[in-house]
Amino acid sequence: MPHILKQASLKGYNTFGIEAVAEQLIKVSNNQEVKEAIDMAKKLDVPPLVLGGGSNVLFTKKTYPLVILNNLTGIEKQKENEDFVWIKSGAGVIWHELVLHCIDNGWGGIENLSLIPGTVGAAPMQNIGAYGVEIKEVFESLEAIHLDTLAEQAFGNDDCQFGYRESVFKRKLKGDYFITSVTLKLTKKHKVNVSYGAITDVLDSQSISNPSIKQVSDAVIQIRESKLPNPKEIGNAGSFFKNPVISNDHFQELRATYSNIPSYEQPNGKVKVPAGWLIEQCGWKGMREGHIGVHVNQALVLVNYGNGTGANIKDLAFKIKDSVKQKFNIDITPEVNII
Ligand code: FAD
Ligand code: EPU
Repeated sequence: MPHILKQASLKGYNTFGIEAVAEQLIKVSNNQEVKEAIDMAKKLDVPPLVLGGGSNVLFTKKTYPLVILNNLTGIEKQKENEDFVWIKSGAGVIWHELVLHCIDNGWGGIENLSLIPGTVGAAPMQNIGAYGVEIKEVFESLEAIHLDTLAEQAFGNDDCQFGYRESVFKRKLKGDYFITSVTLKLTKKHKVNVSYGAITDVLDSQSISNPSIKQVSDAVIQIRESKLPNPKEIGNAGSFFKNPVISNDHFQELRATYSNIPSYEQPNGKVKVPAGWLIEQCGWKGMREGHIGVHVNQALVLVNYGNGTGANIKDLAFKIKDSVKQKFNIDITPEVNII
């Protein structure tokens, strides 16, 4: 039987630190318990909410009838050859613990994704990415249980339809599956990715010219700790919005007025613009309204200083979205799952 708590506070289960109540909070440790939890939701005729580390959600309701908390652990080596190793991880493993485990064992490919909060099972949901790498580059497959039929199903890389902060699980199959495990194909002979300027800067400052995967991971950790607020100190869910991708014509128009607008050219000729810059230009950076606000050093991160509500944060997010639309004629869309 899975562990069940009734009328449980979810404040400690989301990095925004938003207060909400789970009428039933069911902690599951294996596939059988996942299925029992789904059965309970069916009997009660309520939609189950799957929760990992709560680092990419904004709770906007006071209560949720049934929350399934993912605690499926275990990391195993499935197979290997001369060049690669296939690592299968339980979906409830903490992502950064998997990263450290892989680095300790000399398996490369996810060192740039060090210190991203949350669980392994949520990582494919939005194809987590940072510092020039996305999980899709090393993703082999995942296993999931259908939340209606209870069928167990495997998804390969193509099935997941990964994009920038996107997958089929955020779109067509939204809310349909509980991901139970993820398998990654990692390297034994490494080709580290230091294409992201800030990594090179840190390594140069330490006179490291031929970095190991551990040194890349350490550099990423150093950058992240200096840039992003620690949710243990200030409630937040990382970047609240995705960086918008606009047409080159639109970008050229904007550049005529804002000559310093930062940009990243995309392979399809479009241009990605940092939402943090757009939001800062609209005057939001460092703004505080009661218990919530926009982080002082990173305008893309909305923060809860203590007793903010999900509705407060959502209202602020929509005000920000409107002002960016007005000033730049750009639609920015939330990365965070507003539920
Ligand atoms: P949760 O917040 O618990 O869930 C997220 C969504 O996935 C929800 O819709 C939930 O229902 C669903 N879900 C969770 N687990 C499962 C499962 N097993 N099966 C099915 N559905 C599931 N993200 C990046 O990509 N790059 C970054 O650099 C980054 N930096 C961050 C920095 C900070 C300080 C914070 C707070 C967040 C950051 N994030 C970043 C966002 C977040 O860490 C990732 O999205 C992470 O993968 C979320 O994991 P989680 O377990 O906390 O998911
Ligand atoms: N910028 C500003 N003002 C700000 C913030 C940013 O002008 O207040 C501009 C700067 O020009 C800066 C540029 O935006 O150079 C990019 O900023 P940063 O390097 O901090 O990255 P980001 O675009 O804000 C993205 C991801 C992060 C990821 C980092 C590193 C998205 C939505 N966010 O942030 O992911 O860690 O790059 O790769 O793509 C997350 O998804 O939650 C997340 C934190």
